This record gives sequence, C-alpha cells and structure tokens, in this order.
Amino acid sequence: MEKDLLNIQEDTHKKLKAVKTSQELTALYLSVFGKSGRFAQTAKRIQEIPKDKKKTIGLLVNKVKQTIDDSFDKRKKELMETSIKNKIDVTIPAITPPLGHLHITTLAISEIAKIFERIGFTRVRYPEIDREWYAFESLNMPVNHPARDDFETFFIDAPPFGKLGRLVLSPHTSSGQVREMERMRGIPPIRMINIAKCYRPNWDISHTPMFHQFEGLVIDRGINVTHLKGTFEYFAREFFGPKRKIRLRPFHFQFTEPSFEVDITCDMCGGNGCRLCKEGWLELGGSGMVHPNVLAAGKIDPTLYTGYAFGWGIERTYMMKAGIQIDDLRILYANDIRFLEQF
Ligand code: DAH
Repeated sequence: MEKDLLNIQEDTHKKLKAVKTSQELTALYLSVFGKSGRFAQTAKRIQEIPKDKKKTIGLLVNKVKQTIDDSFDKRKKELMETSIKNKIDVTIPAITPPLGHLHITTLAISEIAKIFERIGFTRVRYPEIDREWYAFESLNMPVNHPARDDFETFFIDAPPFGKLGRLVLSPHTSSGQVREMERMRGIPPIRMINIAKCYRPNWDISHTPMFHQFEGLVIDRGINVTHLKGTFEYFAREFFGPKRKIRLRPFHFQFTEPSFEVDITCDMCGGNGCRLCKEGWLELGGSGMVHPNVLAAGKIDPTLYTGYAFGWGIERTYMMKAGIQIDDLRILYANDIRFLEQF
C-alpha cells in the first residue's frame, strides 16, 4: 500500500505538469480524489492493514494527500498567472476616473473677482456674522426705519453691544462698505470688491436662506455716475459678452443717492422681449452714488470725496450669463450630482 500511495503521488505530479487549463486541472483532481479516484480507492484499503502498522500507514496517507493537494494549489496559481498575463492588453486605453469640478457658484465668484481685479479692485471679505450697525445704521438705515423691513434678517441670540447693536447674519454684502472705509482709515482711494455669503429667512423656489452677493465700492475725489456706468459696461462685456448692453433705472436705496437698478439686455432674444425677460431687459441689481451719511459713518469727508457702490446676487447674475432659468433655485445647494455635473 505504501508503494501504491507513493506511485499515485509521483504520477499525479507528472500529470499536473502537463495540465494546461483549469478544466483539465479539475478533471485530474477528480480522477485522484473523487469517490472512485485512485487515492480514495487506495486509502480505503487501510481497513485491511494489521493493527500494529495502521498508525504509520495512516500518517503516510495524510502526508501524501497533503503533498498532492499542495501541488494542485501550486499549479492552479501558475495557471491563473499565465492566463492573466495573456489577457492584459497594455495597448487598450485606460478607464479615466470621473473628474469633479468646482461648484458653479465658486466658478462664478472667481470669474467675477478676476474681472474686477483687472481694473484695480481689491477683493475683500467681511464677517458673515456682523453687528446691526454695519448692516444697517452705518448705511443710513436707523432702527425702526421702514427700509429695514426690506432686509428681513436672522438675529443671533446674544446681548447687544452698545452702538454696534445686535448680532445678525449679514443680510447683504453692503455691511462691508463702512468696514472697508475703516480698514483704509478713512483715506481714499478705495476700490473694493466684497464677495460673500448673505442670509435672509426666505425659502421658496426663487430664494435660498443662504446666497451670495458681490459688492463694489469706489471712493475717490471726483467720482461720478459716468464712472459707475463705465464700470458696469466693462463688467457686462467681460462677463456676459460684447453684445450685451446695460441701462440704469431710477430706484431708491437708503445708502445711495441717487440710486439705480441696473438692467442688462436679454441674451435669449437680444433685447426684443421674450418669455425669459418679457421686455428685453433683465435686472442685475442695485447701485448708486454713496450717500454722504455713509461716507461720514466711515470717517470720510463727503465734501472732499464721492463714490459709487453696487451689490448684485451671484446666483442671479450667473443664471443670466448661462441663459438658463432654473425652476427651483434651491437645487443649487441640494448637492444633487445629477444637476451639478451638467455645468
Ligand atoms: N444691498 C442691497 C440689497 O441687498 C443691494 C445694493 C443696492 C447694494 C445699492 C449697493 C447699492 O451697494 O448701492 O438689496
């Protein structure tokens, strides 16, 4: 029996070397270890072995089984390796992993910042949580003034701080105007572009409680409305393209006098009037000549200096550039990849 076992071992070894496919390997395995296989049949004969020899033969049976098993494993690995080698075609182009990109608001912000930086504006950012004085009083909107109702505001539950008042989530980037005058110690020229998040308690298809604005402020000697208009024309050309025109429409803001709303010709219809714009013009946002009281709040002498300011929404402005109308603006911040990857 010992001899038979060792023969099986040697035989199987030889046959294994000739095996080329995994099917052949399985067939060989069954012919050895299957129910009627050579090994199984031989191992059965242990019953006929005299008691005193049973132990040594038993050990041999196990050892031979282990050795054959190991060589099957080894051959299986070799076969797998050669088949992988044969299958990899290194000339096939690799699968490119999906590439993400910045959020459209972030893209719009950097584009807008660059356009203004090119004509000498400095980008700044001021606190998102600010004091009432910077958000309202310093902008010529005293407590109880009805104009303050236009800026529905989130208040922070904290004690007021003297003349600076309560803490608010800044409802517009205009809060940065007097802060910028202070940063410049009341000494013009000032050319700031303040881009930041703003907050107002609105949640519907055209409002998210968090949104973005960009605020321009230019103060120097002899600044007048032509500078304001020229800057807007430059911005419209750079951001929207050479064919777009702008117009100023009289309006009212507490912190500017005179005040305007700025419109731009609609891209969809070229200014003739369509479903998107109705009359050929789309509203960009507010602007005006800085009110003397605001200059004074920033310790700038209104008899020596004048300035203009504007504050427009990033989301709105971007949508006008792309010529798209989003049914529900809230999708911008819903983190839905199916929407975001379209831009
Ligand atoms: N702060 C105003 C708002 O959020 C927009 C605005 C209007 C900003 C006129 C200005 C301005 O700087 O001059 O509605």
